[in-house]
Amino acid sequence: MIVLRTREELLAWRAGVPAGARVAFVPTMGYLHDGHLSLLRAGRALAGPSGALVLSIFVNPTQFGPTEDLDRYPRDEAGDLAKAAGCGVDVAFCPTDPRTMYPHGTRTWVEVEGLDRHLCGAARPGHFRGVCTVVAKLWGLVRPDFGLFGEKDYQQLAILRRMHADLNLVGEVVGQPIVREADGLAMSSRNTNLGPQARQDALAISRWLAAVRGRFAAGSRSAAELLGDFAGALAPGRVDYASLVDAEELQPVDVVTRPALVAVAAFFGGVRLIDNTVLRP
Ligand code: PAJ
Repeated sequence: MIVLRTREELLAWRAGVPAGARVAFVPTMGYLHDGHLSLLRAGRALAGPSGALVLSIFVNPTQFGPTEDLDRYPRDEAGDLAKAAGCGVDVAFCPTDPRTMYPHGTRTWVEVEGLDRHLCGAARPGHFRGVCTVVAKLWGLVRPDFGLFGEKDYQQLAILRRMHADLNLVGEVVGQPIVREADGLAMSSRNTNLGPQARQDALAISRWLAAVRGRFAAGSRSAAELLGDFAGALAPGRVDYASLVDAEELQPVDVVTRPALVAVAAFFGGVRLIDNTVLRP
């Protein structure tokens, strides 16, 4: 595995990849857990033995709001690189200076209209603009055949799919299922910031999603019935949103007639956690 720090190094490496060799790419902000590693393993399989697997680790400042946790975002590059090597990563692109990705400041933005209006987009203005901008920049450097993203960040995946299609980017976007801890908590780099009580309380999220799936299986189709008393179910977590939206357009729906997404964001001990499940009639 080689570690590259600059755009010039990455472009030089990319120019040397033989035509026909498949390149799989997993962009991350580091502090890797089994969710990230599942993307790397899937990427390794898609690239095949003669292809290349590229991981990027970059805590992208433009996707954090002014009052968000950029400074608290956990980092462990040495640990990440050891895990990456274990998953067969060929190239780890780890810019140490934000100017590597933003060499001339930030006048050019990539924004996918509409899909960012609800869910995390409502509470985090500019967040998806920052995500799209950095992923478009990385995509242009890596020029992957496959870019892999987790369904844990369902709205991010839907927005990036649309960006990829609208901008005629090369390769394809591949989604991967949510990886959970044994007790149900969706894996997240932010889980490390949960104290013991908040970690325990946060199980309310996956329990509530299981209850929603149970009501759906029993025949409930209306948002009111499916979501139920979510504030009570998620207490003592403070709910940012708990919503039923169309699984493609991400617009709120009152009754499930086609695949719908139940998405939730809630604060536990000051840490914002997100999770979701798709309901298919
Ligand atoms: P990050 O939060 O590090 O996540 C990197 C990738 O791992 C994303 O595609 C995310 O959906 C996936 N992932 C995280 N937790 C997961 C889980 N429990 N199961 C499955 N996949 C999981 O998402 C970002 O970084 C950034 O926004 C990025 C796309 C890198 C742009 O900066």
